[in-house]
Amino acid sequence: MILPSTPLTIVILNGPNLNLLGSRQPDIYGRETLADVEAACRRHAQTLGLGIEFRQSNHEGQLVDWIQQARGRAAGIIINPGAYTHTSIAILDALLAVELPAIEVHLSNIHQREPFRRHSYVSQAARGVICGFGSHGYILALDAMTRLAVAPATPPDIEEA
Ligand code: DQA
Repeated sequence: MILPSTPLTIVILNGPNLNLLGSRQPDIYGRETLADVEAACRRHAQTLGLGIEFRQSNHEGQLVDWIQQARGRAAGIIINPGAYTHTSIAILDALLAVELPAIEVHLSNIHQREPFRRHSYVSQAARGVICGFGSHGYILALDAMTRLAVAPATPPDIEEA
């Protein structure tokens, strides 16, 4: 007998300063906290039959480690790299290395802001980019991920009858 497989896991990563959501420049980033965003993602993922791992770090290397650890375990990566979007070749390389579908999310419309925010290294590894819709962007990314997510290379155990 093949047991019903565990839901596909989507890793949702958040970069520097996103732990301050709710109090950080609320006119740009909104009043919801990161915990609010996580709760909304969990609720929505459940309706889609997806599992999520939701993480935040202020450290580039930690984000790189989490991307590497997703390989073979997760079905896709949704990432808001914060300011590392505009600087991090290391995050770009990690996303290219793991060969998982990745979606880049920004709360704000980065094309409407300072010129330095218009360039994203991460976009080169992203299947798509969602920006300017506030926290709803994460929900849109989960919806998009349902069409992109692939079963992990190491499938869950199959139990024989
Ligand atoms: C951001 C946009 C980045 O330019 C900025 O550095 C952030 C947040 C966004 O979600 O709009 O920290 O990624």
